[in-house]
Amino acid sequence: MITLNSKIFIAGHKGLVGGAILRTLKKKGYKNILTVTKKKLDLTNKKKVLLFLKKNKPDFIFLAAAKVGGIYSNQNYKADFIYDNLSIQLNVIDSAHKSGVQNLIFLGSSCVYPRDCKQPIKEEYLLNGKLEKTNDAYAIAKIAGIKMCQSYNEQFRRNYRCIMPTNTFGKNDNYDELNSHFIPALIKKLHKLKELKKDELKLWGDGSPKREVIYVNDLAGACVYFMRKKTKEDIINIGTGKDYSIKEYAKILSNVILPNIKVKIKFDKSKPNGTPRKVLDISLAKQYGWKPQFNLKESILETYNFFLEENATIKSKKK
Ligand SMILES: NC(=O)c1ccc[n+]([C@@H]2O[C@H](COP(=O)([O-])OP(=O)(O)OC[C@H]3O[C@@H](n4cnc5c(N)ncnc54)[C@H](OP(=O)(O)O)[C@@H]3O)[C@@H](O)[C@H]2O)c1
Repeated sequence: MITLNSKIFIAGHKGLVGGAILRTLKKKGYKNILTVTKKKLDLTNKKKVLLFLKKNKPDFIFLAAAKVGGIYSNQNYKADFIYDNLSIQLNVIDSAHKSGVQNLIFLGSSCVYPRDCKQPIKEEYLLNGKLEKTNDAYAIAKIAGIKMCQSYNEQFRRNYRCIMPTNTFGKNDNYDELNSHFIPALIKKLHKLKELKKDELKLWGDGSPKREVIYVNDLAGACVYFMRKKTKEDIINIGTGKDYSIKEYAKILSNVILPNIKVKIKFDKSKPNGTPRKVLDISLAKQYGWKPQFNLKESILETYNFFLEENATIKSKKK
């Protein structure tokens, strides 16, 4: 039974998801939260991870540390993606077990479902087909993490569960040109237009692929909700169950970030579209009483304001 005094370790608390879990736990009054920076504890170091968990003995772990990136880095740094993610998972999950940690939530991802999955994607479709080539190393590592949780549950009766989020955006997102996901990439492009006083937004593909997104505060809320909830299943999809085309997102974000300008959206059809549709079936999460709450326009505006704050901090640090 988790109480406000339970010791909770968040691995990856400086990241997009881990940071939001930390804010959510604090807001809900949890008092005994354990965090450590990558500099102090590199989670790919097996010996150090085991020592850390044996010494600190948390009651609960959120495993939100991972090597994460967009298409470019997934494609070009496959060895780093598979090595880091496998190592982090092996070390944290096995050391959690060896330190007697009964409860753990592992962050999986909707991108580990097969490429040509039936839509909307149900949890049972995992491993039903071939993976997307561009991120197969990352996906194989994450699937191994899911299998590890399931195996420790079966063999040792642990309660290690996997939350499978759709594309996530919000505070602490990654805006790196080569590494970002599509919402932060759109935010950065639109901000650039604003700075340069231009009105033409250029995007890859024809704008037709449909994507689902979730605000990170809602995802963190789901992680904490399922930390407290007993479930029969050990994989739970978290998203909205609704998707929009890239063209629709481009229009929504343009209206939020450049409300006074009529942005002209130009598509470069010589560039690939990617998977035509990717949307999660979230009926399982709903059956357990969880549902998304965010408003897309409001959460984009909040995210843009965080982006402006982060930009201002970076600029003032450079001075
Ligand atoms: N973002 C999404 O759209 C999305 C969607 C679905 C699922 N997820 C899942 O959610 C989880 C978190 O993703 P995120 O977007 O929050 O990623 P993120 O912002 O990059 O955060 C990952 C965190 O892990 C830390 N980390 C990486 N390698 C480490 C190591 N060797 N030792 C210690 N810490 C390490 C990073 O620290 P540094 O910053 O210091 O490197 C960072 O704080 C991942 O498992 C991901 O698959 C994310």
